[in-house]
Amino acid sequence: MPNFSRGDQVFADAAQRFPTPFHLYDEEGIRQRARLLNRAFSWCPDFREYFAVKALPTPAILRIMKEEGCGLDCSSATELTLAKACGFAGEEIMFSANAMPPEEYEQARGLGAIINLDDASDLDLLAAHGGIPEMICLRYNPGGDFSIGNTIMGNPGEAKYGMPEDQLESTLEQAVGQGVKRFGLHAFLSSNTMAAGYYPQLAGILLRLGKKLAERCGAAFSFINLSGGIGIPYRPDEQEIDILAVGEEVRKVYGEICPEGGVALKSELGRWMTGPCGWLVTRAVHEKKIHRDYIGVDACAVNLMRPAMYGAYHHITVCGKRTAAADRVYDVTGCLCENNDKFAIQRKLPKIEIGDLLVIHDTGAHGYAMGYNYNGRLRSAEILYTGDGEYRLIRRAETPRDYFATLDVDCAAEELGC
Ligand SMILES: Cc1ncc(COP(=O)(O)O)c(C=O)c1O
Repeated sequence: MPNFSRGDQVFADAAQRFPTPFHLYDEEGIRQRARLLNRAFSWCPDFREYFAVKALPTPAILRIMKEEGCGLDCSSATELTLAKACGFAGEEIMFSANAMPPEEYEQARGLGAIINLDDASDLDLLAAHGGIPEMICLRYNPGGDFSIGNTIMGNPGEAKYGMPEDQLESTLEQAVGQGVKRFGLHAFLSSNTMAAGYYPQLAGILLRLGKKLAERCGAAFSFINLSGGIGIPYRPDEQEIDILAVGEEVRKVYGEICPEGGVALKSELGRWMTGPCGWLVTRAVHEKKIHRDYIGVDACAVNLMRPAMYGAYHHITVCGKRTAAADRVYDVTGCLCENNDKFAIQRKLPKIEIGDLLVIHDTGAHGYAMGYNYNGRLRSAEILYTGDGEYRLIRRAETPRDYFATLDVDCAAEELGC
């Protein structure tokens, strides 16, 4: 079920201090999850989580990850700059990008990051932009459908990422010729998966393939990168994945395929790490009754795009009314001129009054980060609820000045919100 670990008082207190809407993140919750993941894989000597920056690219959060022993998975020049600014360097950074400007390789190499090559042609680009490192990671795409048991979990055959096996082999051969000594294998075959068997199955695929390629190409097989993809229970009827059990299953697979050890494990989880530890707090500002009953809130898809983009479910509670009967049916909407700007459709909720605080759950990953400025709407603030119960502004809300910063128009200072 969604994360109900924080009571309404926390959200109400935050809303007393900061104007809505804002995302609130729970420091203690994030640290606990990082520690649990590290415990789940503590049997593997060189395990490291590279938190996927794209999930929550906010320095205060990235510094928490560093304190918990995580590295960062970066996908762009800007994310590399963020990583550096937050004190990450060398092999604490994984650079997993695709179809990006080749100069980004130079930046990643300058930081000493591990490069995860998405395509065979990237090897020449890397040689020309930063040079070939001694260790390299290659991204695998097996094609077809990816199934666990009888259930199709993903469609690598339609995904733009990674290389098929024959291209992996020729790229690795070429890389060895250019001085690569050690290599890792990476794959991301299923997103937001609630199947506990995902990581164990993926580990099996990558370990077998890595051993085979190492024999054929004569480079040492250093690590597998299980990437991201472990899901969280957005819906009340979903169960949290038992990450300790996942770690144990991966250990068994590892023991069968690599009894001699010597291959490290990496992950690049985003959603699992921070998703449940974030909430979008917004206020009911409008009520409309036409063919349906609508509640308009002061957040919109600009603050959380997942429902509009994927029809994703996010649980909603009304502050102070958690135990009240859910005897109304509402569409909860934002203010965009887009009919998909709805946080909930035909959702049973308690009666909502104008001014009520609504808490949209599990927004801690791919929430704020996917924000945009459609309709000239501005992105909200981010607040950290710290381990000692303080509320810390870790990203201010955008002002019109931010919006107009890239435009060449004259605006009066008061129109820019300063
Ligand atoms: C290369 C890579 N690694 C890790 C992640 C994180 O995925 P998730 O947040 O689903 O764990 C992503 C997400 O898009 C990704 O593209």
